[in-house]
Amino acid sequence: MIKTLVLPLKTSTLHFANVQARKQLMARGAKMELFITQPDDWHLHLRDGDLLEAVIPHSAFHFRRGIVMPNLKPPVKTTAAAVAYRESILKALPANSDFTPLMTLYMTDTTNPEEIKLARESGFVQAVKLYPAGATTNSQDGVTDLFGNCLPVLEEMVKQNMPLLVHGEVTDPGVDIFDREKVFIDTVLIPLIQKLPQLKIVMEHITTADAARFVESCKAGFVAATVTPQHLVLNRNSLFQGGLQPHNYCLPVLKRETHRQAIVSAVTSGSKRFFLGTDSAPHERQRKECSCGCAGVYNAPVALSLYAKVFEEAGALDKLEAFTSFNGPDFYGLPRNTSKIKLIKRRWKVPESFSYASGEIIPMFAGETLDWMPSPV
Ligand code: DOR
Ligand code: ZN
Repeated sequence: MIKTLVLPLKTSTLHFANVQARKQLMARGAKMELFITQPDDWHLHLRDGDLLEAVIPHSAFHFRRGIVMPNLKPPVKTTAAAVAYRESILKALPANSDFTPLMTLYMTDTTNPEEIKLARESGFVQAVKLYPAGATTNSQDGVTDLFGNCLPVLEEMVKQNMPLLVHGEVTDPGVDIFDREKVFIDTVLIPLIQKLPQLKIVMEHITTADAARFVESCKAGFVAATVTPQHLVLNRNSLFQGGLQPHNYCLPVLKRETHRQAIVSAVTSGSKRFFLGTDSAPHERQRKECSCGCAGVYNAPVALSLYAKVFEEAGALDKLEAFTSFNGPDFYGLPRNTSKIKLIKRRWKVPESFSYASGEIIPMFAGETLDWMPSPV
């Protein structure tokens, strides 16, 4: 008979005391299961139209809430637009889903401080996203001069306790693309914190040892970071392995192995400053596999499996739940989820693609086998 080894993560000492027993049971074909508080995705691109309908079941299956990015065409610049976008997300949800979209506003050079008050009053908008103009997909309307144009808005955000979510890369074409995150920290984030130490900032999708160190060096509770699965399991070789790999191309671009190792250490250290944000960013296949492909990795179907793999390989499964389910809501001042999900140590094959009305989407690790299978409790 196959035994089941259930590991409630709250009793993680039990888990570690039983490492040997676990290995023996697994060797005899036992099944390992982790029960964790249902995670949230603190950085998610859901898109709109038929692409929204195609991708939302994957996020809603794994996550209870998602911070929804506003870089649509046109961007979600006002509370009214965010409320309308939220409605269309709710409409696209599978029946009986309790997934809750948490909305964001797209900051521009002309965002009005009054908009921040409206956002807070709406109860639906949780944060404002800063895209430096030209940094990434649909960022053309983003900010060209943060200190010159946006200080009144940032000051209102401090008053409203509204976090600023940052795409942390400079856009100066003279700066090497692999250095853009570090230069952003030095030239924008450090001066910003000096000017507005009370502003809550999430440095999104960090990719470098510099960013991990910077976040750790800031005042607790004011600066945090999301980390994607791709930046934890891939390095920049994955862009070129056996030929150009467009489905591994995202922004910030994958970095060298030493940076990957540094962010793995940061998230598996147990620090409360790092939390789950997939940056799942679907694009129709032709828009990835063409002469000028879009940035974005579609990872919603595989993200939880990959995070579990990273924590397992680091010997830190006892810290997984805080990263996936506690640190994010604690930083945002929102309640932790009460529902649970199960992660089963069982091999499963990632689909090659997902078809939808306008084409198909290729998920991260398409056609490959992963070790952890998320499942409802
Ligand atoms: O790779 C990315 N894709 N990075 C971003 O910052 C945006 C995203 C998208 O919207 O496709
Ligand atoms: Zn993103």
